Order: sequence, then C-alpha cells, then structure tokens
Amino acid sequence: MRLYSDGMRYIFLAPMLVAAACADHAHQATPAHLHGAHDMSATDTRQAVRFPPELRLQTLAHMREHLAILGEIQQAIGRGAYDAAAELAEHQLGLSSLAMHGAQEVGPLMPPGMQQAGVAMHRAASRFAVEATNAGATNDPRPAIAALGVLTAQCVACHASYRLVD
Ligand code: HEC
Repeated sequence: MRLYSDGMRYIFLAPMLVAAACADHAHQATPAHLHGAHDMSATDTRQAVRFPPELRLQTLAHMREHLAILGEIQQAIGRGAYDAAAELAEHQLGLSSLAMHGAQEVGPLMPPGMQQAGVAMHRAASRFAVEATNAGATNDPRPAIAALGVLTAQCVACHASYRLVD
C-alpha cells in the first residue's frame, strides 16, 4: 500500500537532506556551533552550488517569477477561477514548464539532490493543477489548497539545502 504521494515523500526527505548537510559540517563544528545549527542568522549549512554568473542571474529571475506565480495562483483560487489556477501551475511551474526554465541547461550543474528537488517541485505543481481542475467540478477548493501547500513545501525544501554561487 502506498502511504504517501511522491510529494509527501519529498517533504519527509527534505529534513533528511538538511540533516545530511549538517552532518557534513559536523566534523569541523564546535558543540556551540551544533547547538546553533538552527539559528539561521549565525550559520548557513546550505550546500553552495556553482553556476556561471549569467545562468545564476537568470535562475534567480525565474525564482522571483515563481513566487509571483504562487501569488497569482492563490488569487485565482480566491476568485474561484480554478481552471486559471490549474493553467498557471501547469504551464508556469509544472512539468510543462521544464523546457521554458532551461532545465536541460541548469540540470547538469545541480547535485542529484537538487535535481530531485526540482523535479519534485514541477511534479507537485502538475499535481496541484489536477486538484485545481477537480475543484472546478466539485466546487470544493480544499484538496487544491492542500496540494498548493505541498507545492510550496517543495520550494522550501530546496531553499533549505542549496544556495547558488558564481
Ligand atoms: C531545485 C531547487 C529549488 C526549487 C525547487 C525552488 N527554488 Fe527558489 N531558489 C533556489 C536557489 C538555490 C536559490 C538561491 C538561494 C541563494 O543563493 O541564497 C533560490 C532563490 C529563490 C528566490 C530569491 C531570488 C533572488 O532574486 O534572490 C525566490 C524568491 C525563490 N527562490 C522562489 C521560489 C519559489 C516560489 C519556488 C517554488 C515554486 C522555488 N523558489 C523553488 C532553488 C530552488
């Protein structure tokens, strides 16, 4: 029996990725550092991923667009425009958007865990799109809103583990 959807699995995986990143640093950490590991102002345990400067800027621009789209999706749900929400998610964030975001170009630069986080995000967006479309038929937006939470958690998971450097 499948207890969790793929999206849920990635949510459980995310803290493990963070824990693994912390463990990497443990050998050079003082106990004080370890206790402060969750004090985000004092330490940064994210893995630095090197992108060429232009690609880094382009990726960050895409990221800012992602955030804007999350807001547009929430507004569409608020208006009951479920089809519009589904369309935004599928075409701007979902599996259909992979080519648009230059996945072929940036994919090889990412460590495997980051690639997986990216795929998980696109998959969660496509899953949300299905729930949003369903909401049009059932007039119950709750499963779609829950799926939007799972999608947002994929953004959070990747951000918790990785940062970009030139
Ligand atoms: C596969 C990993 C990954 C996923 C998934 C991801 N991001 Fe990011 N995002 C990053 C990285 C890496 C950075 C750069 C962080 C740094 O260098 O400090 C970033 C930066 C950002 C920034 C800051 C942009 C800037 O100008 O500095 C925003 C906003 C953002 N992401 C939004 C999102 C949203 C919204 C989602 C989900 C819909 C998302 N991201 C999904 C990896 C990801």
